[in-house]
Amino acid sequence: MSKRILITGGAGFIGSHVVRLFVNKYPNYQIFNLDKLTYAGNLENLRDIENMPNYTFIKADITDAVLMDSLFEKHGFDSVIHLAAESHVDRSITHPLEFVVTNVVGTVTLLNAAKKYWNSNMEGKLFYHVSTDEVYGSLHNDNEFFLETTSYDPQSPYSASKASSDHFVRAYHNTYKLPIVLSNCSNNYGPNQFPEKLIPLFLNNIQQNKALPVYGKGENVRDWLYVVDHARAIDLVYHKGKIGDTYNIGGFNEWKNIDLIKVMCSTMDKKLGRKIGESEKLISYVKDRAGHDLRYAIDASKIMKELGFEPSLQFEEGISLTIDWYLQNKNWLENVTSGNYQKYYSDQYESRV
Ligand code: NAD
Ligand code: TYD
Repeated sequence: MSKRILITGGAGFIGSHVVRLFVNKYPNYQIFNLDKLTYAGNLENLRDIENMPNYTFIKADITDAVLMDSLFEKHGFDSVIHLAAESHVDRSITHPLEFVVTNVVGTVTLLNAAKKYWNSNMEGKLFYHVSTDEVYGSLHNDNEFFLETTSYDPQSPYSASKASSDHFVRAYHNTYKLPIVLSNCSNNYGPNQFPEKLIPLFLNNIQQNKALPVYGKGENVRDWLYVVDHARAIDLVYHKGKIGDTYNIGGFNEWKNIDLIKVMCSTMDKKLGRKIGESEKLISYVKDRAGHDLRYAIDASKIMKELGFEPSLQFEEGISLTIDWYLQNKNWLENVTSGNYQKYYSDQYESRV
């Protein structure tokens, strides 16, 4: 069956992997990648598929209500996979309002556009909202996990804005019968992640012999999933998820930050031909993040049992592939850290809405 899918935030880290998977796997689907190209959006991520006949890029801001209405009219989207967001906790601590505008107002603007355009016939339509496990707050006992039924308890401005957007998506299902589905995923890692997040930032700093700023004592725990596996899970939820339902996505892969950082250091030593222990000397303990969540851990049993999801690789393999990618794509990293990627693409797409 053919489909016309609007994917928002497709020039970002996870979005670009979702766009690639859908464009390559479903040649009979038309994929529309809508992205504002903020600092986190980079069309270099999609060079390999940018000329595919079933792919269209639209530079636009999801908070622009008039434009969103006209794009639904013009392109006739029958489903949305919504990933566009401000996504970095540290930025949300310094600029909380930007997170409210994009993550809350932007999501409600898109919901309104979908509701208006689909109003006469909701059959076969889907609004898929991609969210995070951070909405559940912070775990303090080792034997606790986030379930789909866990109460929301967001602790950072980022997670509060994502929690709010999740509530609006569910409210539109309850109030207006908008066909929706949600997923909440654990921390992602892999190629194309902006080097403000832990793994790409530290890999970049290790290469350049710069200090590795570990927040607090490095004892916080995160649950890591390879980004391609998140994209595969999104494919499953999009095609097989039950309308109105929520799926937690993860790979049962918890790491204490400091242990993960040591694995990155020793793997980089090997790959760069450094003496073992050399990169670890770059570790520098710094002031903790304000309100730093202690532990996240997803129970992914539901998506595994109901939709048959299985991560495709083990963490050791995923981190090795990730490190190889960053070492082989130094240009990507240089363009991103220098800001060159934005200059190149913003002129090209400014008038192509
Ligand atoms: P990212 O920051 O790499 O990408 C976000 C993309 O959204 C960028 O391309 C950016 O240009 C675009 N964007 C931002 N504001 C926009 C606006 N107003 N209009 C249109 N586009 C806009 O983020 P990511 O890490 O790829 O995360 C994608 C989604 O997945 C987010 O919703 C995030 O909350 C969720 N998520 C992320 C993780 C993770 O570990 N990174 C885990 C679970 C869920
Ligand atoms: P991050 O990649 O920002 O993801 P999130 O905060 O959404 O989990 O951070 C992952 C963990 O690494 C988190 O516990 C904070 C920590 N961290 C550092 O110790 N130093 C850093 O420079 C960064 C960016 C993160």
